Amino acid sequence: MAKLKLCVFISGRGSNLQSLIEACADDGYPAQIALVISNKAGIQGLERAKAAGIQTYVINIKDFNSPNSFDISMIEAIKSFNVDLICLAGYMRILSDNFVDHWHDRIVNIHPSLLPSFRGLDVQQRAIDAGVRFSGCTVHYVRRDMDTGPIILQAVVPVLNNDNAYTLTERILIQEHRIYPLAIKLIAQGRTTIKNERVLIDGATHPDSILINPEV
Ligand code: GRF
Repeated sequence: MAKLKLCVFISGRGSNLQSLIEACADDGYPAQIALVISNKAGIQGLERAKAAGIQTYVINIKDFNSPNSFDISMIEAIKSFNVDLICLAGYMRILSDNFVDHWHDRIVNIHPSLLPSFRGLDVQQRAIDAGVRFSGCTVHYVRRDMDTGPIILQAVVPVLNNDNAYTLTERILIQEHRIYPLAIKLIAQGRTTIKNERVLIDGATHPDSILINPEV
């Protein structure tokens, strides 16, 4: 079966990109990265892509006269690679409504909180400040509003008493690197269906354990 062709959007470190590169290196994985687009030059993620022999583009809105011409350039670049799915992986620019609509149900994102809680930025510190006992990460289809859209997978981690933004970020990141390749695999296998803005996953079972944090 033909592999799902991915375009990964990045803006920085690219550790999620790396997890996708490693998943795709397995012959049996049903997706491949066709290209990586960054809105910034000189970032670590671009180095990771180049080291894996993946075509990269830096497309910066500042180089365009209008948001519309920027959108057209992005859509054209992606089209020429026959991309099936766009994967946002730490992409720090808001996509235009036009772009999101053009790729409806074909853009996914990874976010370091249990959405719909803590959309936006600084979410690990905000989770600590809010005193929540659990946080985690979410892979979801992308809709017009930032960090919204049908949820595909979530992983939960405990928030510890002495956590700071760094320690919680690290704990969540380990799970991000598990669930992003897994979610994309499910999509590539045709196991996800969106019905009434909820994602159904063919053949999925659910955990029967309950967690309480803290344990007292
Ligand atoms: C990750 O925490 C991701 O969930 C968020 O941005 C961060 C990107 O990290 N959207 P990296 O560039 O993949 O290392």
